[in-house]
Amino acid sequence: MSAPSQAHPFDNPVRRWEDIPGWFGWRAAQEEAVAHFAAGSRFVEVGSYLGRSLCSLAEVVQTSGRSIAIVGVDTCQGSGPEGNQQINAHGPAVEYGGGTFAGLLHRNILGCGYADVVQLLITDSLSAAELFGDHSLAWVHIDARHDYDSVKADIAAWAPKVMPGGWLSGDDYHPQWWPGVVAAVGDSLPDAGEWTPGQWRWVKPAA
Ligand SMILES: C[S@@+](CC[C@H](N)C(=O)[O-])C[C@H]1O[C@@H](n2cnc3c(N)ncnc32)[C@H](O)[C@@H]1O
Repeated sequence: MSAPSQAHPFDNPVRRWEDIPGWFGWRAAQEEAVAHFAAGSRFVEVGSYLGRSLCSLAEVVQTSGRSIAIVGVDTCQGSGPEGNQQINAHGPAVEYGGGTFAGLLHRNILGCGYADVVQLLITDSLSAAELFGDHSLAWVHIDARHDYDSVKADIAAWAPKVMPGGWLSGDDYHPQWWPGVVAAVGDSLPDAGEWTPGQWRWVKPAA
């Protein structure tokens, strides 16, 4: 008789964003965005992983009682090895799902009760950007691959989609850990700067 297989941590059902694996911890910035933009706005998060930051944002929006659309974009295939130590942080989730963690991400959104608040696009950042009209988005937050070329391409693709007065922002704005992020932001958007610690933000000039 074979021994019963061990439960995998990813098997645990999730009911709260705090229980979703991830690195998100900048909730005050989400609260600022929801308080700042009008009902009827649309927000996009590029790079959602298992939905930790996405479900937190959904909770902030739902708690506000305001109608704000939220779109999460992810290939669900992970970023691969990256950073100074070339860590493949999403690899276990990709492997768990047989090459994609789309099922886990969707399951977490359903488990937290945000299926009606969040729309998911399982595709790459640049293809997703093409689905939106110029000046149509209030806030786009970029948290996909963190190398220079990827961040530069993401900024080039999404900046035109942000409405005048809207925000383009991103995660891991840290010169030592993620120099490619800092360099790409500086080269692409010289008037962007640090927002909350570890986040950058650019406010699109009003037309
Ligand atoms: C740092 S994680 C996102 C973490 C998430 N925002 C959170 O705080 O919970 C980066 C994510 O970007 C995704 N990703 C990497 N390259 C991408 C691309 N070109 N387009 C869309 N998603 C991408 C990876 O699959 C991974 O899930």
